[in-house]
Amino acid sequence: MRFQSQRVAYPYFVVALLLFGLQMVFGLLAAAKYLGPDPLIGLLPFDVVKAIHTNLLLVWLLTGFMGATYYLVPEESRVELYSVRLAYVALALWTAMGVTAVVGYVFRWTAGNKLLEQPFPLKIVIVIVMLLFLYNIGMTIRAGGRLTTTEGVLVGGLACTALLYLPALFEFDNYTVSVFYRWWTVHLWVEGVWEMIQGALLAYLLIRLSGVDREVLEKWLYVIVGLTFISGILGTAHHYYWIGVPRYWLPIGGFFSALEPFVFFGMAMYAYYAIRRSGLGHPNRMALHWTIGSAIFSALGAGLLGLAHTWPAVNKWTHGTLITPMHGHMAFFGAYVMIVLGLITYAMPGLTGRPEDSRETTAGFWSFWLQIGGMFGMTMAFATAGITQTYLERILGIGYLDTQLKLQVHFLMLVATGVLFTAGVALYLWDFFFLAGPLAPAPARERVAPARAPAV
Ligand code: HEM
Ligand code: HEM
Ligand SMILES: [Fe+2]
Repeated sequence: MRFQSQRVAYPYFVVALLLFGLQMVFGLLAAAKYLGPDPLIGLLPFDVVKAIHTNLLLVWLLTGFMGATYYLVPEESRVELYSVRLAYVALALWTAMGVTAVVGYVFRWTAGNKLLEQPFPLKIVIVIVMLLFLYNIGMTIRAGGRLTTTEGVLVGGLACTALLYLPALFEFDNYTVSVFYRWWTVHLWVEGVWEMIQGALLAYLLIRLSGVDREVLEKWLYVIVGLTFISGILGTAHHYYWIGVPRYWLPIGGFFSALEPFVFFGMAMYAYYAIRRSGLGHPNRMALHWTIGSAIFSALGAGLLGLAHTWPAVNKWTHGTLITPMHGHMAFFGAYVMIVLGLITYAMPGLTGRPEDSRETTAGFWSFWLQIGGMFGMTMAFATAGITQTYLERILGIGYLDTQLKLQVHFLMLVATGVLFTAGVALYLWDFFFLAGPLAPAPARERVAPARAPAV
């Protein structure tokens, strides 16, 4: 860590990880509900629990992305952050918004649009926080007068994330129109601009961890971004198959979304290339685990398991079954959870003032493998449940609830592997909060004379 203002990443990581822990509570609760009977059905029915589970995911990942950016941009632009205070104000607003949303869902205060359930006033807060964030980062880069490709792609991804949230501000009476635009946010986030964020964080980490040439890796980054746009934009149509829009979307969605896995395979090759060129010698081996893990797991979860049901001839059977969360869990985990955990693990020695190899704790190691094993098991549980569900419900025509009863064994497996995964998350939190050490204090110079350090 070379700039004092990078320290502001730490409270962002704290908030992100606490919400990650809370997300697991609601994940386990959602899974337990499949087993029934459900004593909490009056207070916290399935739909409320699922909305909280998925919204917490989005909020904590975005908190992680913002923290990561605050850590990365000063280093790349070689200048202190424009305003640390603004970053704190934004975090306070953001956290208050997240907590209000979760409490609001319990009292059924919701806009009701899957993943975009945030009520309108909260959506406005989200937009304000995004603008504060982009302003702060923009002014920092301006002051530094230096924009690297890596940070350009990262900040570009985040700016587009804010832009693509705008369609979510509108409400439509027509359900088809509403679903049509919902995907402009949801799909174009995870299969568009967030891939820029993953690609940039991956490049940053690989450059730092493997010492590979920046120039070579950044050339690859252009290829990744190019492929993302070619495949991802029209790939949106893989959500338009059955929503009441013209039929020409079927071949468009099938063809372009089938190209999307190349982005993730590209990123896996990128990581493989970096390792082959420069080895795995960096002392922060846990950060290496998460970084390489993200490249591999996203290729499996998003690339392979996305491809598995993206073709219309397959999707007409699997659409909206448990095949969807099979893919959704592994994709989100591989692409976005792992890369954020990788960046946090990488940044910790600098933030706490401890040696680079201090992250190789037993808890950290177990946390990694329990999460990998747990997520693999959960994916298998969703997959076996989803295949059986598709066959019984869609091919044999057995009713939804009768089918669910026949899937109980898979839900047991989901709960068991979910517990393993949660144990991995708990160990990560334990490691972060109790073993990694507190944030190192700022040097006295900046505490006594903030006026001489305009960036703080
Ligand atoms: C990191 C990248 C990705 C993430 C995080 C992700 C996540 C998700 C999630 C959460 C859903 C459920 C959305 C909802 O119903 O509201 C979904 C649906 C879907 N995803 Fe992905 N995905 C990713 C990449 C891909 C890719 C590359 C493909 C295709 C090759 C793909 C194909 C699909 C399809 C076809 C559906 C619709 C399933 C249905 O009809 O029910 N995804 N994805
Ligand atoms: C203890 C671990 C977890 C358990 C037991 C769990 C369980 C569940 C359950 C039961 C659902 C509802 C599926 C349905 O609609 O039928 C769900 C949805 C979802 N979960 Fe989790 N989850 C866990 C962890 C995670 C993690 C780590 C992520 C992110 C990587 C995640 C992301 C999601 C997403 C995106 C959805 C919506 C998927 C869809 O609509 O198809 N969950 N989860
Ligand atoms: Fe999609």
